Amino acid sequence: MERLQKVLANAGVASRRKCEELIKEGKVTVNGEVVTELGVKADPAKDDIAVNGKRIRSERKIYLMFNKPKGVITSVNDPKGRPVVTDYLKGVNERVYPVGRLDFDTEGLLLLTNDGELAHKLMHPRHHVPKTYLATVERVPHGDALDKLKRGIKLEDGMTAPADVEYHDVDPDKKQATIRITIREGRNRQVRRMFEAIHHPVIRLKRISFGGLALDNLQRGKYRKLSGEEVRLLTEAADGAEDANRAE
Ligand code: URA
Repeated sequence: MERLQKVLANAGVASRRKCEELIKEGKVTVNGEVVTELGVKADPAKDDIAVNGKRIRSERKIYLMFNKPKGVITSVNDPKGRPVVTDYLKGVNERVYPVGRLDFDTEGLLLLTNDGELAHKLMHPRHHVPKTYLATVERVPHGDALDKLKRGIKLEDGMTAPADVEYHDVDPDKKQATIRITIREGRNRQVRRMFEAIHHPVIRLKRISFGGLALDNLQRGKYRKLSGEEVRLLTEAADGAEDANRAE
C-alpha cells in the first residue's frame, strides 16, 4: 500500500504535487469512491484507481529469469536491428528491463524486471550480490593461477575483490578447462578480463547463478517467472549483502 498521490505519480499521471491537487479537487476515485484526502493509501496491484474516470496504468511487479543465448544483446532495442533479449519475451506485456548485462557472447542467467528499486540494489557494487559463471578457457590453468583469481588480481581498473574459483571440468587432452567462478562485483567484461590476466582466454562463458538463484534446466532462449519465494530470496540477497557490508 502506498499513498495515493505516490501511486498516481508512479503511474505517470503527473508530478506528485499535481496529483495531490487532482485528489483535493475530487478527480480521483479508488474502487469507485471519490477520495479527497491526501492520507489515503492504495494498492495499485489490487485497487481500481481512476483519474477523471479513466483508469490508471497500474503495472504489476514482474520478475523473470531468462536463459540468454550467445549472440543476443542485453538491451530492449538495438538501432542496428540485432537480436535483443526482449525479442524472446513473447507473452510478457509489462515493460521489463535487464538487471545488469551479459556480453553479446555470454550466455545464461539474466534477470529482467519492472521493479526498478530491486534492480538497482542488485546491480549496485556496494551490495556484493554473488554471480556464478562457468568459464571454459584455453588450456588448463595451474592451481596457483586460480589462486591469484581467488585473492584478487590487478586489472586496468584496479584490483578485483576475492572470488570463489574451482575446477569444474578438465578436458582429457588438456586443450581446455571449465572453471566455476563466483564474483561479487560487476565490472565490464570482468570474468573475461580476469582470465586474460592469467593468460587463459575465455572460449565460452555462461552465467549459472545470480543472487542465489540458479539457472538449472531452463532451456536456452526461454524465460520463466520467478516465484514469490525466489523474489524474497533475491531481495534478501540484495539487502543482506548491504547490511553485512555496513557492519564491516
Ligand atoms: N563477465 C564477463 O566477462 N562477461 C559477462 O557477460 C559477464 C561477466
